Amino acid sequence: MWNVLSPEDMRKLIRVASGKEKADLVIVDGDLVNVYSGELLKGWSVAVKGKWIAYVGSDASHAIGPETEIIDASGKVLTPGFIDGHTHMIWYCTPYEFLRYAVKGGTTTFITEIMELVHFGYQGLLEYLQAVEHQPAKILATVPSGITLSESFRKRIPSLEELKELLQREDILGVGEGYWQDVLEGETNFRALASDSLRLGKTVEGHAAGCRGRKLQAYLDNGVSSCHESVSAEEVLEKLRAGIFVMVREGSIRKELEAISEIKDKHSDLRHVALVTDGVDPRELVAKGHLECVVQQAIELGFDPIVAIQMATLNPAEYFHLDRFAGGIAPGKYADMVIIPELQTIRAEFVISNGQVIVREGKLQVEPRWSDFSLRGPKNIRVGPKDFTIHAPGKGPFKTRVIDYVSALVTREALIEMFPLEGELRADPERDVLKASLINSEGKLFTGFARGFGIKRGALAVSNGWEISGITAVGAKEEEIAKAVNRVSELGGGIVLYVEGQSHIELPLPIGGIISNLSIEVVAETLEEIQNRVKALGCPFEDVFLPLHILTTPAIPFLRISEDGMIDIKKGEIVDLIVS
Ligand SMILES: [Fe+2]
Repeated sequence: MWNVLSPEDMRKLIRVASGKEKADLVIVDGDLVNVYSGELLKGWSVAVKGKWIAYVGSDASHAIGPETEIIDASGKVLTPGFIDGHTHMIWYCTPYEFLRYAVKGGTTTFITEIMELVHFGYQGLLEYLQAVEHQPAKILATVPSGITLSESFRKRIPSLEELKELLQREDILGVGEGYWQDVLEGETNFRALASDSLRLGKTVEGHAAGCRGRKLQAYLDNGVSSCHESVSAEEVLEKLRAGIFVMVREGSIRKELEAISEIKDKHSDLRHVALVTDGVDPRELVAKGHLECVVQQAIELGFDPIVAIQMATLNPAEYFHLDRFAGGIAPGKYADMVIIPELQTIRAEFVISNGQVIVREGKLQVEPRWSDFSLRGPKNIRVGPKDFTIHAPGKGPFKTRVIDYVSALVTREALIEMFPLEGELRADPERDVLKASLINSEGKLFTGFARGFGIKRGALAVSNGWEISGITAVGAKEEEIAKAVNRVSELGGGIVLYVEGQSHIELPLPIGGIISNLSIEVVAETLEEIQNRVKALGCPFEDVFLPLHILTTPAIPFLRISEDGMIDIKKGEIVDLIVS
């Protein structure tokens, strides 16, 4: 087993601690953040043997021999390696590309969702889990609950028995986020998985966006143990009181740390709070970093630095029952540590992971392990402009149901009067009403309307929509939508912006239609370039891809699309496009 000390490990560690054997690595004279006692211990040293910490104390000279590597940390601060308790690593990049940047800042353990690949079945999930084994950082996952709005998607997810089998794995820490409306109202695998997870001593990840009061209590009755969707200190407090482990999210989808930071003034115990990213976009990862930025921001917002570090180390470790081997600097734990210049400055100078120096003077020393993937994105989808026609049932005008973007993430329902033209309801870019389509991997297609995306011409198509396998697209003209969709299919997955009269721009995502085979730097640059062009066409959103990704998700209200039609998430049912 990778996560427990073997008797042989123990024997070696004892010999080092008692001075009978020399350490492989000793970090000397650093100010040590003791996350267990909440102290900063001045001038302490740590002796490492193999992957493990053998000795921690004010003097480790007895563990130093001629072969021992010494890192002088005098004047610096030594913290445990950071643990991101909730992330989505499957975001455009292979584990290889992701880790090149993500470990540089000092995160040595990632707990990731793998729901993005659930439609590739048991083998698909296995392929990803194998790709993240034996990397410079520990990568652990949660088993997806497989909640989706799409019937064709549902057919492709692993069976309950297969999901339960995955749950048994050591690198699976529990059940992945289950959206509260679906868990409370829908018929999903969630309860069966949650019950198994609890029996195995594992966790059940929640997603209680806007869920409060009695609904929250009922949701928790499903065994849910965490939530990363709080948007205010009051909500955090309500969840803490209800026994939920609260993950404060500060990542690319949403940034909630500032709004929540008042929690530090409420005299509540923060040991059941963690800082998490919920995923970092490659552009942000390359430009800024990963969880270390969140810890830094927490300090800048006034959290005690030791508390901020606890929220990114021991707290998530305890929650996931990893504290027997990670989350703090102590004998018998994994040697996962970060040297930073001072307590207030979370900038990794050295990162030690599994006893290995993986970052030295800020530079990556090891290459992550490369894996090939057999997962393929959507192919053989061929559409023409007529496929996106919305026939009018008469002369009209018609009150038409439109997905109205309140933000890039949240939509509401708008009823708009539309006048048919030649028997069709068409997009009306002057009123900012565009067509929004989904073509599933079997070629089944649905087109509705969306307002607020802002582009006056052109079409954007993506193959990495949430909880769907297929291509989603937004555009004004059917010809442009068809061209963008067909090009995504030719790429075997990707993002394509097609504008008549301009050369199109694209990012291939051939691995499952979700992950690029290009370097993270190229991915980041291309995303930025597409984004700038979409914004130049009139899109008001900071992230122009998110409005397409969320068109198909049951995670967030209110109107979404599936291949079978427009869905009202609150009602949980398909609703008519034309109301009257
Ligand atoms: Fe998430």
